[in-house]
Amino acid sequence: MAGLARFGVSIEDELLKKFDRLIQQEGYLNRSEAIRDLIRKNLVEKEWGEKGDVAGGIVIVYNHEKRELVNKIIDIQHDFHEIIISSQHVHLDKQNCLEVIIVKGEAKRIGKLADTLHSLKGIKHCTLARATTGKEL
Ligand code: NI
Repeated sequence: MAGLARFGVSIEDELLKKFDRLIQQEGYLNRSEAIRDLIRKNLVEKEWGEKGDVAGGIVIVYNHEKRELVNKIIDIQHDFHEIIISSQHVHLDKQNCLEVIIVKGEAKRIGKLADTLHSLKGIKHCTLARATTGKEL
C-alpha cells in the first residue's frame, strides 16, 4: 500500500462551508475521503479524454415488441464486439427490457457505441457510466 501524505489547503470560508454541507449530504465522515474521491473522479474524467483503455457500462431501456429495433440493437453490438465484455438483459415487464452493456477499450470507440444506441428511434433511455480500468488510480 502506498504511503499517506498530508498537505494543507487554503480555501475561502464560504466555499469550505458549502463543501462541508455537500459532503455531509453525501455521507462522508471526513474531508480527506471526500477530497480523495474528488481527485479520483477528475483523474477518471481525464482518462476518458486520453489514449488508453477505459471501462464502463451502457444502460439502455427499450420495448422489445419493436422487432426492427431489437435487430438493430443486436447488429450494433456485433459491430462493436471488440469493446463489449458482456451484457445482461432483464425483462422489466411485458414490453420493456433493460440491458447493461459492459465495455472496455478506447474511450472514443465506447462513446461512439453509446451515441449510436442513443440515437436509435425507440430507445427510451441510454446512459453511459464512465468508469476506469483502475490501473492509473
Ligand atoms: Ni427482454
